[in-house]
Order: sequence, then structure tokens, then C-alpha cells
Amino acid sequence: MGVYDLICNRRTIRKFLQERIPKNDLLACLNAARLAPSSRNRQPLEYILIVKNLDLVFNHVSIAGYNSAVGPLDDEKPVAYIVVISNKDINDHPRYDVGLAVENIVLTALERGIGSCIMGSVEREELKPKLKIPENYNIELAIGLGYPKQKSQEAKYKGDVKYYLNEDGVLNVPKRSLKDIMHEEVF
Ligand SMILES: Cc1cc2nc3c(=O)[nH]c(=O)nc-3n(C[C@H](O)[C@H](O)[C@H](O)COP(=O)(O)O)c2cc1C
Repeated sequence: MGVYDLICNRRTIRKFLQERIPKNDLLACLNAARLAPSSRNRQPLEYILIVKNLDLVFNHVSIAGYNSAVGPLDDEKPVAYIVVISNKDINDHPRYDVGLAVENIVLTALERGIGSCIMGSVEREELKPKLKIPENYNIELAIGLGYPKQKSQEAKYKGDVKYYLNEDGVLNVPKRSLKDIMHEEVF
């Protein structure tokens, strides 16, 4: 699948098969993050890959805030996490860098059949010492990874952004239409 098709087909996955992800695929995700654009090429981001102490992360994130039925049962949790951290001494507001690096991770994973959930809802103060993260680093985002055990699709936006399960149990994610977000020449 080309990049555009990957982007169009990507949806957040929150229920995962309990199958191990080959280490090389995880390393490809991190390498894609490493090569992402970075403001002034300062490269403040580093990554913690977690495949063993999974509950350590899971216990400090919040999945599917809009609808818990969309989130994982005990045997559907992510089988790997990438925690994105930033070195405050290099850049203490690296939000654009984070977004670009995370999208690289997500698309590289998807190309390999791996689903992902970006998580901004993280108990950062609690998780930081547990992951032995030095004081001069911030936790930016966590990404849960695994092979999908859930289908998700784009749905028409009808005034509510909340995702929902349809009658077939498929996750529907309302997206604003191109016509609603696009301006030509001027606003
Ligand atoms: C910065 C950011 C933070 C997010 N944080 C969470 C989160 O804490 N928990 C969660 O379940 N999903 C989280 N998501 C996933 C969004 O809910 C999801 O992208 C959105 O509902 C649109 O669905 P889609 O990714 O399938 O297009 C986050 C996404 C982004 C970009």
C-alpha cells in the first residue's frame, strides 16, 4: 500500500491480538521516528521501547475515554509500547517534532500490519520514575502497538466527534468532510 492509502486506511486500534511483534518491525518504527523532521534539526526526542513490563505502562494510561467498550479487555491490551520522551535541555516545547515522529511510527507499523493507539492521556508524574526517566526529560506521548483485534472505519461527521460502535461491532470514527475543512485562496 502506498503512503496515501495507508493514511486513508489508518484508524486507531485499541484491542489487540496477543501475538508478539518481531523486534525488527519495532526497530523499523523507531528508525522511522529517528528520521522524522525536527525543528532546527535539534532532535530532542528519544524513545523507550517496552515489550516486557507492559502493565507498567497500561496502568498509567487511559484508553478510549469516549467509550470504554471500544477499549481492550485484559486479553486485548497492547503487546508493545513506545513511550516518546523529550530532552528539555534541547527543546522544551517539541510538540511539532512529536507529532511528526509519532505519525512516522504509526504508518511504519501499519505498513507491517501492526495497529496502534497514540495516548496523550498519561499519568506522567507516576510513570516517569517507574521508567527511570531522568529529571530533564518530559514524557510526550505513549503509543500502544499490536496486531488489530478490532475493525475501525471512518464515518460521516454529523455534529458529534465521538467515536462509536455500529450494530456490527465496527468502530466508527466521525471525520469532518473535505468540503468542511478546505478553503480555497482565502478563508
Ligand atoms: C495527541 C493524541 C492523543 C491521543 N490520546 C489518546 C488517549 O489517551 N487514549 C485513546 O484511547 N486515544 C487517544 N488518541 C487517539 C484519538 O482518540 C484518535 O486519533 C481519534 O479518536 C481519531 O480516531 P482515528 O485515529 O481512528 O482517526 C490520541 C490521539 C492523538 C493524536
